[in-house]
Amino acid sequence: MAKKHILIVPGDGIGQEVTTVGKQVLDRIAEKFGHEFTYDEALIGHVAIEATGDPLPEETLVKMRASDAILFGAVGHPKYDNDPSAKVRPEQGLLKMRKELGLYANLRPIKLFDELLEASSIKPEILKGSDILFFRELTGDVYFGKRERLDDGNTAYDTMIYSKYEVERIARKAFEAARTRSKKLMSVDKANVLESSRLWREVIQKIAPEYPDVEVEHQFIDAAAMLLIKDPRRFDVVVTGNLFGDILTDEASQIAGSMGMLASASVGDSTGVYEPIHGSAHDITGKGVANPLASVLSAALLLDISFGLKAEADAIIAAVDKVLKDGFRTRDIANSETPADKILGTDAMGAELLKHL
Ligand code: IPM
Ligand code: MG
Repeated sequence: MAKKHILIVPGDGIGQEVTTVGKQVLDRIAEKFGHEFTYDEALIGHVAIEATGDPLPEETLVKMRASDAILFGAVGHPKYDNDPSAKVRPEQGLLKMRKELGLYANLRPIKLFDELLEASSIKPEILKGSDILFFRELTGDVYFGKRERLDDGNTAYDTMIYSKYEVERIARKAFEAARTRSKKLMSVDKANVLESSRLWREVIQKIAPEYPDVEVEHQFIDAAAMLLIKDPRRFDVVVTGNLFGDILTDEASQIAGSMGMLASASVGDSTGVYEPIHGSAHDITGKGVANPLASVLSAALLLDISFGLKAEADAIIAAVDKVLKDGFRTRDIANSETPADKILGTDAMGAELLKHL
């Protein structure tokens, strides 16, 4: 019996709708497996700015540090996207959380459910059997390097910066994971141009001999982006920097058919954060049509990685598999052949899922 305290941080847009379902699933798991989960909630992003002026209020940070794991929704609001001059932005809350909690490793599993082979715009015969685990570095790179406006605002720069220890700690996590999978690791960089990438590659090469059972392949980001569409099955465990990882994992989401299906885990020094890789999706917010499965699968990752509850996580994944096999779809993963009565909204999809838990 596990006794755990979970913080729900819905954030903006569809974050609220999808984490509601994620929490219902956690509740059901606790009931079924005899665990005791307690919950609290906290603000981040645009909703936090509206309430307090701060995208990551101190109160939220305190609650985050005091919890055993965090189920996270999304941050962002369209009003900032077309206003580059906004000084306070929802995304700052997300980045500060990653830094403050030391969440340097972002795991993004690209798991393809067979039922969704047709939902991708890539040919099924190219996709079938793809199974990729990305390790995106999350607290370094241009995201946190020095940036500035010069020249009366007419020039700007951002700094791509990495230190050896930052590369080494994420690389070790990726090597360890490769050991438990197909023993292949691809490291992605731009070492033909960037000094920070040459350092990256140097570190990977230096520690590789400690994992003699893992075969390492280096790819440049441009080639990796091309290969991912051409031959996704060639990828297994991938380790890369913050910016390349951001871009590559959005691309990889199309292998799974929809961003609405993909979960992620951000781990490191303290409390882990589990969130869908999709964003706040204001175009569909409040309509009750968002796909809750990425949040549900994030809850599964939370149980597995932060609490070591593998059987519980597997029960969730099996339930997702079952609802898909039964033909149920949210709008984003439906196609022209999906019968109208099988296209469910967020809550109905959650209810269908709970039937199998
Ligand atoms: C992600 C998102 C964030 C990022 C944004 C919202 C700042 O795209 O988690 O992938 O770039 O890291
Ligand atoms: Mg992204």
